[in-house]
Amino acid sequence: MSVVVLIGAQWGDEGKGKITDFLAEKADVVVRYQGGNNAGHTVVVDGVEFRLHLIPSGILYPSKLCLIGNGVVIDPAVLIAELENLAKKNINTENLRISHRAHIIFPYHQRLDLYEEERKGARKIGTTCRGIGPAYMDKAARTGIRVADLIDPEEFPVRLEYALQEKNKLLNQVYGAEGFAYEEILAAYSKYAKILEPYVADVSLIINEAIAKGAHILFEGAQGTLLDLDHGTYPYVTSSHPVAGAACLGAGFGPTKINRVIGVAKAYITRVGEGPFPTELKDDIGEQIRTRGHEFGTTTGRPRRCGWFDGVVARYAARINGLDYLAITKLDVLSGLENVKVCTAYRYRGELITEFPATLKALAECEPVYEELPGWLEDISEIRRYEDLPANAKNYLERLAELARVPVAMISVGPSREQTIVRQNVF
Ligand code: IMP
Repeated sequence: MSVVVLIGAQWGDEGKGKITDFLAEKADVVVRYQGGNNAGHTVVVDGVEFRLHLIPSGILYPSKLCLIGNGVVIDPAVLIAELENLAKKNINTENLRISHRAHIIFPYHQRLDLYEEERKGARKIGTTCRGIGPAYMDKAARTGIRVADLIDPEEFPVRLEYALQEKNKLLNQVYGAEGFAYEEILAAYSKYAKILEPYVADVSLIINEAIAKGAHILFEGAQGTLLDLDHGTYPYVTSSHPVAGAACLGAGFGPTKINRVIGVAKAYITRVGEGPFPTELKDDIGEQIRTRGHEFGTTTGRPRRCGWFDGVVARYAARINGLDYLAITKLDVLSGLENVKVCTAYRYRGELITEFPATLKALAECEPVYEELPGWLEDISEIRRYEDLPANAKNYLERLAELARVPVAMISVGPSREQTIVRQNVF
C-alpha cells in the first residue's frame, strides 16, 4: 500500500499532469484535492493530446478510480464539457466520483473575479478569472453552495435565491453592473445537477476504504507551492492550498496515511500572473525557453514568464511539503544552451540569504546569486536511462538535488509518457 502526494514545487505549471499520468499507471486511485479549473494539464497519449482542467489525469487509464475531493471548487459546465470531450475520444468516465462536499462555482463568481481584477488595476493578481477566488471566499464566508445542495431539488432553489440576492446587490451597488437572473441559473444548474448526480459520492469514505484495502493512491496537487494561500507569494497566490498537507483536508483522510511526497519542478522555472520573480529572464534566453518549452498557459493561453532554476524556491518547497523526492520535468528544453545557471541564494540588502523571504517587498529586493554550469548540446528527448544522459545534464541534475536537499526520482525529457527516466520507483 502506498499513499503518494504529488505537488508542484514552484509557481504551478511544473508538468504535474505528465508525471501524474505516468504514475497513474501504477495507482489504483487518483485524487484531486484543491483548486478548480484554474489548473490545466496537457497529457499526450499515443500522440493524442488531452487537456484536463478538473478531472484527474488518471481518467486516461480505463481501470483507475478518479476522485474529485471536497477541497476542489467545481464549475459544473466545465466538468461536463470535459466529460463530453473524453467521451468523444472514447475515454470511459464511469470511474469518476465527485465529493458531495465540494463547492460549486457560479457565473457570479467568474464575474466578481473579473470585476475585482479590474478594480485592483495595477495591483491585480493576474487570476485566471475562472471564479476560483470568489468561490473559496463564499466557502470561508459559509455562504457557498456545495455539490450536495446542487443535487437536492428542494434545497438548491432556496440556497441559490439567497446567494443571488446577495451577489446581485454586490454587483449592482459596488460594481455598478447588472445582476443575474435567478430563473436562468436555476434552469442551467438544475440540468447540470442531473448530469453530475450519478458521479456524486462520499469521496473521503472511498479513500479511507481504499487505504484500508492497501490500494495505491495518488493525490494530484494543482498549482504550486508558491501559489499556496498561506505559504506562497501572498497576495499573488491562488485561494486554495496546493501544498502536500492540504491533501488530507481536501480529500478527507489523516496525515498518518501519507507514505511519500513528490515535488514536481521544471528544470527551469516559470510563472503566470503578476508578482516578483527573482530569476526571471527578460532576454533572448527567456524567449528561447518560452518557445522551446511551449510556455503558454493551458487554461488562459497567456505567455508564461521564464527564468533559471531557483534553488532557494526548491529548498523552501522541500521544507513546506516535506518532500521525499523531486521529479524534474522539461530537462530537454535546456538542451542546446552552452551554459546554464542556477540560483543558489539571494542577495538582500547586501546580505546573502538562503531561505525564501515572507514578504513580497523583500522578495522584490532579492537579487539572485547564480552559479554557472556547462550546458549540453545533445538532443536528450530519446534517452530513457539516467546513465545515458550527457555528463553535463547529470551534473546539472545533481546540483539541483543538492540545492533542494532532495534526491531526484524522475526526469521528464518530453511530453509523452515514454519520455520519462525513472531513478526511483515511488509506488
Ligand atoms: P486564480 O487561481 O485564478 O485565482 O489565480 C491566482 C494566481 O494563481 C494567478 O497568478 C494565476 O495565474 C495563478 N494560477 C492559478 N492556477 C494556476 C495554474 O494552474 N498554473 C499556474 N498558475 C496558476
